[in-house]
Amino acid sequence: TLEFDTASEVSEELLYLKKKEGYVGKHSRQYRDFVFKEDDVLTLTYPKSGTHWMIEILSLIRTKGDPKWIQSVPIWDRSPWIEILNMYEALEAQEGPRLITSHLPIQLLPKSLFTSKAKVIHLIRNPKDVLVSGYFFSKVCSSFEQVASLQEHFERFLQGNVLCGSWFEHTQGWMSMRGKESYLMLHYEELKRDTRSTIEKICQFLGKTLEPEEMNSVLKHSSIQAMRDNKMSNYTLMDGSNFNLKNGPFLRKGVSGDWKNHLTVAQAEAFDRMFQEKMAGLPPELFPWD
Ligand code: A3P
Repeated sequence: TLEFDTASEVSEELLYLKKKEGYVGKHSRQYRDFVFKEDDVLTLTYPKSGTHWMIEILSLIRTKGDPKWIQSVPIWDRSPWIEILNMYEALEAQEGPRLITSHLPIQLLPKSLFTSKAKVIHLIRNPKDVLVSGYFFSKVCSSFEQVASLQEHFERFLQGNVLCGSWFEHTQGWMSMRGKESYLMLHYEELKRDTRSTIEKICQFLGKTLEPEEMNSVLKHSSIQAMRDNKMSNYTLMDGSNFNLKNGPFLRKGVSGDWKNHLTVAQAEAFDRMFQEKMAGLPPELFPWD
C-alpha cells in the first residue's frame, strides 16, 4: 500500500495549484476525504497530455461504442475532475462504475485511492509537446498562467511554476505505481500511432471486451474530428466562463512532435539537459519519443 502524508510531503512550489481559486483552493479538504471504490477508473494526467481523448475513449468503451452518452452529457460530467470544486457533486452523484479524472500529483490524491482496487490509467506524453500544447492553451483558458511569450512559458514549465507544478516530479510520482496491478501507464504517442491496439490494451486492463463493430465505433467517435464536432466534448458549452475559444480551439492539432515547429534548437537542448538530470535513473524505454 502506498501511503502519503498529503500535507507535509508536498513542497510549496508543487502546491502552486493550491493558490488557484476553484481549482483546488478551498476545496482541498473535501476531496481528500473522497472514497474510491474498486470499480472506479481514474484517468490521471499532467494537463495537456491527452486527458480528454482518454475520457472520450473510456466513455465509449463503457457504452460499447454507442455514442448516445458522449453526445448528450458534457465530458466533465462523464468523468469529473476530483479536484475541481464545481465538478465534485457530479462525481459523487455518478451511478455505476465511475469514471474520474485528475491532474493532481500523486501526493495530493485521497489516500483511499491507494487502499482500494480502483484502476488508474496514467497517460503521459512527450513533455515538449505538453509544454507547447500548454502554451497555446494558456491563451484559451484563464486558469493557465498568462504569459507574454513562449519563452516565458518555457521557463515557467522548466521551473515547475505552472498549474500542476513540475512535469518531472508529477510524472515520476505517478510512475512509482509501476508494477501495481491497478496501474496502467500509456503514452499519447502509442495511442496516436496505433489507436486500436492501445484501446485493446485498455479493454484488457479494464476486463472488457468489444466486438469488432463496437471497437470501430469507439475509434470513429473518439477521433479528434468527431470530438471537435461534439459539443459535449469541444468545450463550446464552457466558452465565456474561463475559456475563450476566440483565442484558439479547445482541440488544437492532436499530433505528436509539434514541438519541433515551435521550440528553438537552444530551447530543445536546454529541455533535454533538464530531462536527463531530473529523470536519471528511470529506464529510457519509458519515454519512447524523440
Ligand atoms: P495539442 O494542443 O498538441 O493539439 P488534454 O486533454 O490533456 O488537455 O490534452 C490536450 C491535447 O490532446 C491537445 O494537444 C489536443 O489536440 C490533444 N487531443 C485531444 N483529443 C485528441 C484526439 N482525439 N486525438 C488526438 N489528440 C487529441
